[in-house]
Amino acid sequence: MLNPADFIKESIMEIKNTVKDKKAIIALSGGVDSSVASVIAAEAIGNNLTAVFVDHGLLREGEAEYVETTFQDRLNFRFVDASAEFLRKLDGVEDPEEKRMIIGEVFIRVFERVAEEVGAEFLVQGTIAPDWIESEGKIKSHHNVALPHGLVLEVLEPIRELYKDEVRILGSELGLPEHMTQRQPYPGPGLAVRIAGVITPEKIHICRKANAIVEEEVHKEGLDKTLWQYFAVLTNTKVTGVKGDIRDYGYLVVLRMVESLDAMTADVPELPWMMVKTISQRITAEIPEVTHVALSVSDKPPSTIELA
Ligand code: XMP
Repeated sequence: MLNPADFIKESIMEIKNTVKDKKAIIALSGGVDSSVASVIAAEAIGNNLTAVFVDHGLLREGEAEYVETTFQDRLNFRFVDASAEFLRKLDGVEDPEEKRMIIGEVFIRVFERVAEEVGAEFLVQGTIAPDWIESEGKIKSHHNVALPHGLVLEVLEPIRELYKDEVRILGSELGLPEHMTQRQPYPGPGLAVRIAGVITPEKIHICRKANAIVEEEVHKEGLDKTLWQYFAVLTNTKVTGVKGDIRDYGYLVVLRMVESLDAMTADVPELPWMMVKTISQRITAEIPEVTHVALSVSDKPPSTIELA
């Protein structure tokens, strides 16, 4: 990568010259990649970029508020609450790949509605190098996408040659706060891939709460700066426990905390035992539906980072 300031200057020029006074749109997830791509594009074309943040009902606790506060003064920000539409389509679905497919399809439909409404001709994406290297280079660098209703958008990918650590550096150069540039990656389908089996409002609530506790304790320990990802998975397994004097039958939650450089491989590091115990105690105390917390110690490979 050029030095960050020059890279940003060149990207801004390129986007300006390509888009001119037309409209562009970006799906802003709140992750580092789409955030950096959004800010670069907004520096180039200002309010002609609409940054769309879609609430699919499977966000982390406080996520929508976090993204809105971080970006509302910096971007032409559009919040779309499509949670009812997503959850209706996911009703009764167990298979993780089917969940991903449904979420992808509904997302495109929601996104296309906004793109049509704003008259977008360009789509800015926060694609980075591992995204297309992992798909064996199948994504061409200059291409158009046709959305289901026929809207064709020209794709711009300002950070497609970069790796995550370089994107984080650009984020700092662009003045994004450290808590944003250093965020852990969060999968697009959100909690859907961290809830085993069918998705219900109760399971979303449990999974969201457990993840909030993990994030809080990892942050307290300062490990958010070194861990690649840290999260809780709500399994579909129920196990016996005892709360007070009463036997209980509740969910098993799995903690997953890994170190990685680019998610292609990952290691489970030695973790501070008191932090792990505190997370377990808090989850079982604060979430009545959970009776047992287990820690995943499997590296990638052979396991994947997500369990679903
Ligand atoms: P795995 O589980 O394959 O994950 O080791 C590698 C990285 O990809 C993320 N991940 C996803 N991200 N949509 C996404 O946007 C998905 O469906 C998805 N599945 C996994 C995962 O969090 C990890 O960073």
